[in-house]
Amino acid sequence: MSDAHRAEPLKFAYWVPNVSGGLVTSTIEQRTEFGFDYNKELAVLAERSGFDYALSQVRYASSYGAAQQHDPAAFSLGLLLATERLKLIVAAHPGLWHPAILAKFGITADILSQGRFAVNIVSGWFKDEFTGLGEPWLEHDERYRRTEEFIRVLRGLWTQPNFDFGGDFYRIHDFSLRPQPHPVPGRPHPEIFQGGNSTAARQVAGRVSDWYFSNGKDFDGFAEQVADVRAVAAEHGRTVRFGLNGFLIARDTEAQARDVLREIIDKADVEAVEGFRAAVRQAGKSTSDGKGMWADSEFADLVQYNDGFRTGLIGTPEQIAHRIVEYKKRGANLLLLGFLHYLDDVEHFGRHVLPIVRELEAELDRTGDPVGVGNAR
Ligand SMILES: Cc1cc2nc3c(=O)[nH]c(=O)nc-3n(C[C@H](O)[C@H](O)[C@H](O)COP(=O)(O)O)c2cc1C
Repeated sequence: MSDAHRAEPLKFAYWVPNVSGGLVTSTIEQRTEFGFDYNKELAVLAERSGFDYALSQVRYASSYGAAQQHDPAAFSLGLLLATERLKLIVAAHPGLWHPAILAKFGITADILSQGRFAVNIVSGWFKDEFTGLGEPWLEHDERYRRTEEFIRVLRGLWTQPNFDFGGDFYRIHDFSLRPQPHPVPGRPHPEIFQGGNSTAARQVAGRVSDWYFSNGKDFDGFAEQVADVRAVAAEHGRTVRFGLNGFLIARDTEAQARDVLREIIDKADVEAVEGFRAAVRQAGKSTSDGKGMWADSEFADLVQYNDGFRTGLIGTPEQIAHRIVEYKKRGANLLLLGFLHYLDDVEHFGRHVLPIVRELEAELDRTGDPVGVGNAR
């Protein structure tokens, strides 16, 4: 890790609960709501509690627990107008959005929020969403080829007048979007996140994304992705930043936190989790090297859509903070967090976990290594 990266404080994002059913596919009590009033209160609390970003997920069809879903673009705009510092990352699918339409929407949202709009370009795993809407479901690596063109068009329209692009999926002819995004010092355009796990996802990130989002991973799994994406980025003279997903359960004792995890899994909605497993298997089937997201996920991992338990942010605030800083040492710039009881847990995180993270980061800057407790597993 370079000294420049080390000196930069870790950033924190949370998954906006803009779909019903919470973040785990389980009948355990989840004091989380997907409505706007709840989310407004949460966003204001989150920015006061030290969160920098919120990610609104995209889901068009009901499936596997997310029975109702709010559109992430409209929902995020509402949240941007209700907050002052929080950046909203809007998930969007190439193939369903045209890049220029998203670029245009993004410029308006960015101006209305004074530079707080960002996107997460998702290549898609849910075939029925595409076929049900009459759109073709491309083969896995073709979806990523389209994603790369999509991001190139987005960036081009956000930064260049008279933009031209001739690709296999998109063609733009001498086009200028006016106005341009809100000017923010040090930010050339709204930030572009993109993620996955497959080789195709890593290569696209190395070539064109600002941020690579990883599913939940243990230390080695995360470090392996960072090394891969960095190698591709270096070949193209670029740097990419890394966000890692994790489901966080902080309790006074490690045993209490582990009991909560056990209850989540014991009460898993088996039918829904198995349905999800079938859908993501189908989505990843066409990756040639078996590295696709969820390729090695077990039943318990899939109870949290994005393998969030694997990151192991489960224990006391001390243990979790140490583990988070261990991920920083392995290249993480941002932690994307999910919770069981959002309002309570976000506030608890800001009060009890984040201050320890900041102390450990300061220690890391001074000594190169914080005190090594809670790093096991
Ligand atoms: C942090 C993160 C957030 C994601 N959010 C969404 C989302 O909101 N909607 C969606 O359909 N897919 C989402 N995905 C999944 C991607 O669209 C894609 O299916 C997946 O990353 C493919 O993985 P693969 O490249 O390993 O095959 C997300 C993935 C990650 C890592």
